[in-house]
Amino acid sequence: MSPFLLTRTLPEDATDAALRADVLRGLAHTPRTLPPKWFYDAHGSDLFEQITELPEYYPTRAEREILIARSGEIAAATGARTLIELGSGSSEKTRHPIEALTGLHTYVPVDVSESALTQAGHALIAERPGLEVHALIADFTAPLTLPDTPGPRLVAFLGGTIGNLLPAERAAFLASVRALLSPGDALLLGTDLVKDEKVLVRAYDDAAGVTAAFNKNVLTVVNRELGADFDPRAFDHVAVWDAENEWIEMRLRSRTEQIVKIPALDLTVDFAAGEDIRTEVSAKFRKEGVRAELSSAGLDLARWWTDDEGRFALSLSVAR
Ligand SMILES: C[S@@+](CC[C@H](N)C(=O)[O-])C[C@H]1O[C@@H](n2cnc3c(N)ncnc32)[C@H](O)[C@@H]1O
Repeated sequence: MSPFLLTRTLPEDATDAALRADVLRGLAHTPRTLPPKWFYDAHGSDLFEQITELPEYYPTRAEREILIARSGEIAAATGARTLIELGSGSSEKTRHPIEALTGLHTYVPVDVSESALTQAGHALIAERPGLEVHALIADFTAPLTLPDTPGPRLVAFLGGTIGNLLPAERAAFLASVRALLSPGDALLLGTDLVKDEKVLVRAYDDAAGVTAAFNKNVLTVVNRELGADFDPRAFDHVAVWDAENEWIEMRLRSRTEQIVKIPALDLTVDFAAGEDIRTEVSAKFRKEGVRAELSSAGLDLARWWTDDEGRFALSLSVAR
């Protein structure tokens, strides 16, 4: 059986230091925020997989539909020998391009979730004998050191996860992706598209309450890691469409006036009744905006595919 390597690119205490810094930066001031990467401990990663199967959550199905239809074209256009996937999660949809890329030498899934990387990596090496899988536990917003593997390189960033970055963060992120590529290498990018507000809000506020549990999981993570005393039942899950910025915001809204202690940070947070913590932004895109953002980073949009209902887009862009 081919090898499965799992590399932690940062020391274990770096995660702890990053969580402390993010919680301090995000909760000590108003408006209060927490970055979405802290949803994804093992339980959060499981909850995200459940979200992808919800009737309201169309992005996974739409992107899978495009990948099934277009993986042959992706393989022909890129001839990639190394596929690097950022925020790879379960790698479930990535099976389609992996299968189509017959000359693929190494798959490099990159994620903060060790449990997701381990499960996905073992499944993939069993399915594709000969493929090297070199997983990296890493933060894709920080500089990445990739294994030395043959080109051409294809970087995949699926699931619309790019929408979780704010515009300035997106620009920095796309520039860092470009820096991983040589001219002619490519980026495969999944972007959710602007659409009817009701459809969008439903996708982030499902009837079964799975997204609510996912959102509240960040409080459980902060409780466990930093000894905080958040009561997840004292917060409501809220999803709102910001029409000006064209993004969905997920928030946790304090039901009452309450005080939360975070001993590891020596921090006490006073919440007013109805006060929100913003836990995720999920930007929705239009083709010309995506083209412009890619171009600013030195990437030329080469292909643009949508699902049949025009809900989600997958683009292939090439490094100049
Ligand atoms: C919205 S999910 C998408 C998962 C998968 N790509 C898909 O399309 O279904 C986001 C994934 O990115 C990972 N993630 C979030 N922020 C991250 C970060 N800053 N660095 C690395 N991985 C991150 C999460 O653990 C999760 O697996």
